[in-house]
Amino acid sequence: MDKTFKFSNRHVDLMQRDAKTLFGWRYDPPLIFERGRGVFITDVDGNDYYDLTAGMMCMVLGHSHPELTETIREQAELLVHESSWYSNPWAIEFAELITSTLPGNLKMVNFAVTGSEANEIAMRMAVATTRKHDIVSVLRGLHGGSLAAESVTSVGGERKGGLGPFMIPARSNAILAPFCYRCPVNLTYPGCDIGCLKLSEDMMEHMTSKSVAGIIAESILVPGGMIVPPEEWLPRLKQVAEDWGSLLILDEAQLAPGRTGKLWAFEHYDVLPDIVTFAKGMSAGLAICGTVTTPEIAEACRGDAGLPWSGTYPGDPFPSAVALKNLQIVLRDRLAERADELGRKLRARLDPLKEKFDCIGDVRGKGLYQMLDIVQDRKTKKPDYAMGERIRYNAVHEGVVTICVKNYMRIAPPLIITEAELDDVVGRLETAIQRAVDGYPKDIDFTKSSSLAASRDMRRPAAE
Ligand SMILES: Cc1ncc(COP(=O)(O)O)c(C=O)c1O
Repeated sequence: MDKTFKFSNRHVDLMQRDAKTLFGWRYDPPLIFERGRGVFITDVDGNDYYDLTAGMMCMVLGHSHPELTETIREQAELLVHESSWYSNPWAIEFAELITSTLPGNLKMVNFAVTGSEANEIAMRMAVATTRKHDIVSVLRGLHGGSLAAESVTSVGGERKGGLGPFMIPARSNAILAPFCYRCPVNLTYPGCDIGCLKLSEDMMEHMTSKSVAGIIAESILVPGGMIVPPEEWLPRLKQVAEDWGSLLILDEAQLAPGRTGKLWAFEHYDVLPDIVTFAKGMSAGLAICGTVTTPEIAEACRGDAGLPWSGTYPGDPFPSAVALKNLQIVLRDRLAERADELGRKLRARLDPLKEKFDCIGDVRGKGLYQMLDIVQDRKTKKPDYAMGERIRYNAVHEGVVTICVKNYMRIAPPLIITEAELDDVVGRLETAIQRAVDGYPKDIDFTKSSSLAASRDMRRPAAE
């Protein structure tokens, strides 16, 4: 039998008012939350749910962390906002701490408000420094929703639908994703010798204007399917960037700090990017993001292409102080190591689900960022969007909120989650998967939940 949700009149009223006045994507049921503590988030009826995506992957310390709450209180009394033409101790200290954790000479930070903005700064830096134009990105990559960031985004759905000429022309989504589970060139790692990248270089030759300023990639491609590159891929991509006289930009929005078991996910690889962007987890949920590069690149582009980037809010005292505290705690409590250790345990609990349920084609990820790839058929690996949505919906019944976009179901809890809580979560997910396999709920519509999932013509679901 279908389980039904029972919401209070107040909850239903808020859901209806939300639908009437807020223009947004909403999952079903469109829960209204009003509290959070640790790994739990609580709706207006007082129901607790495990927050399996730490908000939008921002709350690495969980909700209402007592030390962050104290910093928030203290800073609110001191200074919240100031003119962008001056600085403040917290932005300076935060920038210093960030750069102290990065390898090489990545020592200059340009703050932004969103991850999209941070990537746009990175693209400006590449263009201004190299005096070239094209930005080359990876198929299945996501770099944000502002128009230039959207241009280099190529995750399916309706992201670019109707935007036509608003997409910057000097971009090529020319690099094939190193997606070993569904290899774009039908080869098998490691015998392939990273054939996808060889073909990508060919594509760059034909698809760009040959004036390549930068190559942008996520260190691990999360929204496009948790594509964890094989160890050679990023070092070789850096070589391609150098061969083309361009800069390598690595987007760590989904990954830093610590989620994958290293503070920066690219540290899993023998690669040194020219520019790194950060967002989400580095922000503690207060919208402070940014771009880090070398002093040489910063000086080469200073005063050009609108750089250094400013605006009304980047590097404001309030978010800087909170994000600084957030990163200090991540380092002090060794949360990257914790993510590595707990991630292995989580994986040991998730892998058997693949054996138990035919619909789980693959489990991929690193550290405390794992993803279930939901398929119709294990041999063809054909994605099963409807099953993904069924699982997500049933998980809510089991007290677990998470994100499933199309066939990709994310497991990205706050890094403070305990082993016992992880066990509990996996048990609840197992129940949710079983109910989905049993065919519940009967009617589902996944197109309303996200621009990544939406496809205008549902007879032709977005291609995989
Ligand atoms: C990898 C990646 N880069 C950039 C962004 C854009 O960040 P924001 O939504 O803060 O603009 C996102 C957002 O989901 C992302 O996943």
